[in-house]
Amino acid sequence: MLFRSAIFLASALSLADAAPGPSPDTDAAAAAATTVPCSTIDFSPVATMVASNLPACKCTPGDSCWPSTQIWSHFNATVSGALIKTTPIVISCYPGPQQNAAQCQNADNNWSDPYFQASQPLGLSYPTNITCLPINATAGQTPGTCTLGTNPVYAVNAVNNNQVAAAVLFAELFNIRLVIKTTGHDILGRSDGYGSLELWLHNYNNGALFQSKYTSSSGCTKSTWTGAAIVLNGPGHQWHDVNPVAAANNVVVVGGGTPSVSSMGGWMQGGGHGPATHSYGLGADQVLEAEIVLWNGTVITASVCKNTDIFFATRGGGPSSYGVVVSTTIKAWPNPESVQVQHLAIGALTANTSSLFDAVTAIFNGMPDAMDAGYTGYGTWSIASPTPLFATFTAGYVHGIYMFNATQQQAQAAWAPLRAKLAQYNSTLFVSETYVSYSDYWSFYNVESGVEPSAGVTSALGSRLFDRAAVNNTAGLRDMIGVIAGAPTEFTSNSVEFVSGGQVFRDASDPNSGVLPACRKSYFNNIVARGWAPGSPQATIDATYHDITYNKVAAMKAQAPDTGAYMNEADRMDPDYQTDFYGSNYAKLLSIKQRYDPLGVFYCPTCVGSSAFKPDSTGRLCRTS
Ligand SMILES: Cc1cc2nc3c(=O)[nH]c(=O)nc-3n(C[C@H](O)[C@H](O)[C@H](O)COP(=O)(O)OP(=O)(O)OC[C@H]3O[C@@H](n4cnc5c(N)ncnc54)[C@H](O)[C@@H]3O)c2cc1C
Ligand SMILES: *[C@@H]1O[C@H](CO)[C@@H](O)[C@H](O)[C@H]1NC(C)=O
Ligand SMILES: *[C@@H]1O[C@H](CO)[C@@H](O)[C@H](O)[C@H]1NC(C)=O
Ligand SMILES: *[C@@H]1O[C@H](CO)[C@@H](O)[C@H](O)[C@H]1NC(C)=O
Ligand SMILES: *[C@@H]1O[C@H](CO)[C@@H](O)[C@H](O)[C@H]1NC(C)=O
Ligand SMILES: *[C@@H]1O[C@H](CO)[C@@H](O)[C@H](O)[C@H]1NC(C)=O
Ligand SMILES: *[C@@H]1O[C@H](CO)[C@@H](O)[C@H](O)[C@H]1NC(C)=O
Ligand SMILES: *[C@@H]1O[C@H](CO)[C@@H](O)[C@H](O)[C@H]1NC(C)=O
Ligand SMILES: *[C@@H]1O[C@H](CO)[C@@H](O)[C@H](O)[C@H]1NC(C)=O
Ligand SMILES: *[C@@H]1O[C@H](CO)[C@@H](O)[C@H](O)[C@H]1NC(C)=O
Repeated sequence: MLFRSAIFLASALSLADAAPGPSPDTDAAAAAATTVPCSTIDFSPVATMVASNLPACKCTPGDSCWPSTQIWSHFNATVSGALIKTTPIVISCYPGPQQNAAQCQNADNNWSDPYFQASQPLGLSYPTNITCLPINATAGQTPGTCTLGTNPVYAVNAVNNNQVAAAVLFAELFNIRLVIKTTGHDILGRSDGYGSLELWLHNYNNGALFQSKYTSSSGCTKSTWTGAAIVLNGPGHQWHDVNPVAAANNVVVVGGGTPSVSSMGGWMQGGGHGPATHSYGLGADQVLEAEIVLWNGTVITASVCKNTDIFFATRGGGPSSYGVVVSTTIKAWPNPESVQVQHLAIGALTANTSSLFDAVTAIFNGMPDAMDAGYTGYGTWSIASPTPLFATFTAGYVHGIYMFNATQQQAQAAWAPLRAKLAQYNSTLFVSETYVSYSDYWSFYNVESGVEPSAGVTSALGSRLFDRAAVNNTAGLRDMIGVIAGAPTEFTSNSVEFVSGGQVFRDASDPNSGVLPACRKSYFNNIVARGWAPGSPQATIDATYHDITYNKVAAMKAQAPDTGAYMNEADRMDPDYQTDFYGSNYAKLLSIKQRYDPLGVFYCPTCVGSSAFKPDSTGRLCRTS
């Protein structure tokens, strides 16, 4: 086949002018330069490849089509030495040449830190299947087995567009599964993949530039945005890098509630919410223009003027499907003059959770009105929380909700209808309602948001969006609350994200938005999650996943049949993911995907077009037709 012969043409330096990759140690890099062959891979055959001529399955290690070590080193030269042969993060905990007690202890100590995970080529905040656990020797743990499992086998530590393009082209030329990872925060296994080559973007970060008035990089005059903007150069930005730039210029950027998520990867491309979305819109709606590396290495700018189809798809149509987003320009909004925060804490005073369910039902039912009055924020509820929700209560409901540019009196008044409803449970529920004021967005964010959940945890979760119709029928809602609360022995927890309404609804008029249309009428999202003890038998894990999909998410779907799910925080086993995550946009997104990804290099589970592939029993991806 054409592409097979291409590998021997490792002569033409199609990417010879690639900027040098990062070399942590100049001496080591110089020494390596004398041993690494300097020939590079010729990618020109990719242009004439067609998907129908490729083998049925992607090549994985051990297959005869898997590139030889020599080809990998030619590829390494092509990407200026940025190729990493991966090993499990905690390989140092296991017997073998890399065993190292101090390194193992460091990794174990940092395992739950999402910044630590993001700094590792194979780091995942929310691994779907951990096959190499950290070992706490102090606690007397002993190593079992350690394998790469579903982790990529090579990674390109890309810091420029040439390296990005080379990784994409190499995966195409050799028919290898490509995985894109920025932070590894993904919850659906979309930044992981068996036998794959990873395009690692974490270190590609050339800074954030404030514009007091947005200026199009391409002279586009069609944008209706007349406010300030921030240019994010390089895909490695996490909100924690961008927020200080916004704060220093007294503007608000819509970032994640957690500052460790990436700014233009899965968070943005899947929708993206945070404490400012209700007032200023979804993450995807902030993007004024995007620079994208395409399947053939071409770098384009997408905006309201140019490449509007991929602009639409990138702004909410799902990650890793159409191209690699390498820079964006986003809206910057006025800093509010005040933020009023309400903290509500409800605890069940008896073992009978009936009143708690009534209270949660009342809150679900009443929040659309409260949100129309300006409230937005995040809550958690459970009847058996693994850790106390507040004080010693493990059965209850807590939230922090906020209003911009409002007085405390206005914030209290907007809660009056729900306060009256909750008061009737005062014999069975403890209810505490308190208020705090902040003088601007960032002083609020740094205290009330910006909290990092623990990384490295495994659980099964699913979610559903709720519109007014879904909370109107309170009898059905009350039954659903009972089902998703789970049995006390399950330690189920629910997170409710009141992050829509307001500007999210107003942005429904944006013709270039690929966001799930149900987001434009749904006020909030409820996530239901169940974990399991480390080392639980597979049957326990499978049963937990099954319960989430077929009991708990199913109950929410029955109550909210006309909405969908926020794809970034959804059930990765959802059998209806095409409708639930993309709704009526699916067909249009698929046609854009086919145009921009003719070889099927941008695959991720539950992503647009992913049904063209299915993992076989070894975990390798095979084409379904
Ligand atoms: C600790 C934590 C906190 C979270 N907080 C929030 C929150 O506040 N609000 C919210 O809306 N969601 C939140 N989420 C969910 C979050 O939106 C998703 O996990 C999202 O996928 C993260 O995107 P990422 O780029 O940081 O992660 P990654 O795992 O690096 O990537 C996620 C997906 O995007 C693709 N991708 C990454 N970069 C690019 C790129 N440059 N071009 C093309 N494709 C790319 C990957 O291939 C993968 O499919 C949180 C998740 C975690 C684990
Ligand atoms: C790629 O080259 C660099 C130095 O140029 C070297 O440090 C690295 O180990 C090489 N990667 C692989 C997979 O051989
Ligand atoms: C991890 O934690 C240890 C403390 O145990 C610290 O010294 C180290 O710098 C941390 N970071 C990494 C990357 O190991
Ligand atoms: C996790 O990986 C193991 C081994 O690769 C596999 O047997 C198991 O089915 C996987 N579990 C899940 C939940 O994917
Ligand atoms: C490891 O075990 C010791 C002793 O039980 C404990 O003090 C420590 O917190 C554990 N480390 C981690 C990271 O859990
Ligand atoms: C808050 O008030 C400021 C100053 O008047 C204004 O610029 C901004 O748009 C307002 N924000 C919201 C969300 O109302
Ligand atoms: C729990 O309380 C509700 C209403 O307060 C009551 O109807 C129900 O019978 C109680 N359940 C039990 C098991 O006592
Ligand atoms: C409970 O509410 C009722 C009115 O609904 C009120 O009469 C009573 O004093 C309240 N009890 C407490 C302890 O607040
Ligand atoms: C709520 O229900 C009432 C009657 O039960 C109905 O008249 C109304 O249209 C419903 N509203 C929504 C938004 O579904
Ligand atoms: C690269 O791919 C895009 C999208 O498929 C296509 O429009 C463009 O013409 C291609 N560029 C080259 C140089 O072939």
